[in-house]
Amino acid sequence: MADGLLREGFLPTAAYEAVLSGRKTLVIGRKGAGKSAICMRLTTDGEHAGDTVLLTPDDAAGDEIRRFELQGLTGRSSKSLIWRYVFAVHTARHVIAHATERHGRRHPASVRALRKFLRANGEESEAQLYDRLASGTRGLQTSLSLEAFGVKAALDMSGSSEGTRASVQLEVLEGGVARALKELDCADAHGPLLVLVDQLEQVWSNAPDSKDMVMGLLLAGKHVSGAYGRAVRCVLFLRADIYDVLEFTEGDKYRGDEVRIEWTPEHLRELALTRASVSLGRRLTPEELWQQLFPLSVAGVPTADYLFSRSLARPRDAIQFLNLCRDKAVERGHTRSISPDDVTGATRQFSEWKLQDLAREYLVNFPFLSRIFAIFQNTGYVVMKAALRSRFDEHREALHARFPEYSDTLTVDGVIDVLFAVNFLGVRRGSEVVYTGEAHVSVQPHETEFHIHPCFRPALNALSSTELHPYVPRQRDVFITGDQHVAGLAVRGSQVGATMGFPVGRDFVMVESLVDSCERIRRQLGRANLPSQTAFEISVQVGHVADDASQLLARMQQGEVRDAVSHVVAATNYLNTLATQLVENGMDRGTGVRSVVNRIQDETRALGRMLGGGHYG
Ligand SMILES: Nc1ncnc2c1ncn2[C@@H]1O[C@H](COP(=O)(O)OP(=O)(O)O)[C@@H](O)[C@H]1O
Ligand SMILES: [Mg+2]
Repeated sequence: MADGLLREGFLPTAAYEAVLSGRKTLVIGRKGAGKSAICMRLTTDGEHAGDTVLLTPDDAAGDEIRRFELQGLTGRSSKSLIWRYVFAVHTARHVIAHATERHGRRHPASVRALRKFLRANGEESEAQLYDRLASGTRGLQTSLSLEAFGVKAALDMSGSSEGTRASVQLEVLEGGVARALKELDCADAHGPLLVLVDQLEQVWSNAPDSKDMVMGLLLAGKHVSGAYGRAVRCVLFLRADIYDVLEFTEGDKYRGDEVRIEWTPEHLRELALTRASVSLGRRLTPEELWQQLFPLSVAGVPTADYLFSRSLARPRDAIQFLNLCRDKAVERGHTRSISPDDVTGATRQFSEWKLQDLAREYLVNFPFLSRIFAIFQNTGYVVMKAALRSRFDEHREALHARFPEYSDTLTVDGVIDVLFAVNFLGVRRGSEVVYTGEAHVSVQPHETEFHIHPCFRPALNALSSTELHPYVPRQRDVFITGDQHVAGLAVRGSQVGATMGFPVGRDFVMVESLVDSCERIRRQLGRANLPSQTAFEISVQVGHVADDASQLLARMQQGEVRDAVSHVVAATNYLNTLATQLVENGMDRGTGVRSVVNRIQDETRALGRMLGGGHYG
């Protein structure tokens, strides 16, 4: 808000509209999804037609709530009472200020009672949330002064539990607040008071009292609408990972209230345009942003697609990535526009940041994350469960020793669930790879193929889909790259070889067989059901083998003597290694790779037989 960027550059999202209209009161979103932005926006003048109170607990306040307990009540019920107390006091203060401001000097009796209550309980002045909690804690654990509401000094409650006493007192207070609200009857006239609670993540730990604190808040938030009707609405902003670890006994209690902040690439694109416009001080067109300021495309992909596919779908990440591109450009003296190189330069750095951020984001719930990331370093980005299992097994003991309290989670399936939940891994479903952003169905037992999110690949050096040793050509002079190999072009030498006398026909037959084998492997790849990127990468390597062999053929046809046998032996060995590697990466399970592996092995066996046991076997 400080730089005004958000004031002018705010994009009203579906979640925002849902809260503003009052349909939803529980906003769930990951870090950087825009919870605080919505919150800030609601407190901005002219947005919500009524007053707002923003509560953001700091460490001291968090400690106070976590420690608060009442004999005779569960942790979460106790905590809900302290939250209700805070809401009641804030509402009371609001009512008084509001009555003075809008309803003239003469306050109705109910409002005067509130003033009296606040004075008697030391809640009259402006105070930090912490102080409010501290006095509420004291009041609820001993007794509140309730004479203002016509209740005599000591409610006769001897013999009842601390919890019961606190509840009864609180009900008196809430009743008093409700009466004043009713008497002023301003719910319809000026819209409800919005009580916003944000940034609970600041005081979140994975301990039971921390969960109780949040559960208590949810209970209290729901209670507000019962206690004050439409005059007060409590809107809570919660980080998704926190909300998701709460254990509800009544499962769907909050479903109707909750809205999850979701961003599509289209929205992010719009956000980028808005933010860029605000920071340049004039309205940009999409063309200006995506064609003049940013390059039209990067690595063959339209720039916006390139950027938003390589970041998680949240505004903080998108803004960071865009800013980083700009910074790279400035660093390199590109002051008028950003070049594709600037963008690719930013990509790696951004990836490293995000990998660290992810570990930090989940430090409380999954402190082992950064150790798990190490398992994915220098691998292919397609990860099969079988391969993950064997890699994980190597680390299991160390992980269990280091994080004994997480040993239930630290299994292959447990880790996959976590990595999927935090958006590090996507899962292959049909022909698509699904990340949590889009899917709310967790990983199923039969699912075996996972992909590292593109955001994290550069940092992990996992840029190709599968780890394949590259084929090293033997005919080095000219080397045709890519998959446009020339196998089909070579003249069939075996028919002429014999008459030419030298090199011999048998050499031709062998090299041609190699080329034919490659061709069959590639056709098999075309038929197999495997990730297209993996098929492409295998195809490229097999293509290199074929090209290399074709060049050898071409030379042999010109009468050059070449060591055809050792060439074919080396190539056959390479193909065998390729098959082994696919199996080791677990690629043969659950995908169409098995048929490719079988094909490669059939071909190398046939080539081996032709070469004879002396050379190969
Ligand atoms: N609707 C929006 N319009 C414009 N910018 C937004 C919007 N939502 C979030 N942002 C920006 O994204 C960044 C992260 O948002 P923030 O509200 O801090 O996330 P959270 O509170 O969920 O962690 C901030 O820089 C914020 O300005
Ligand atoms: Mg926030």
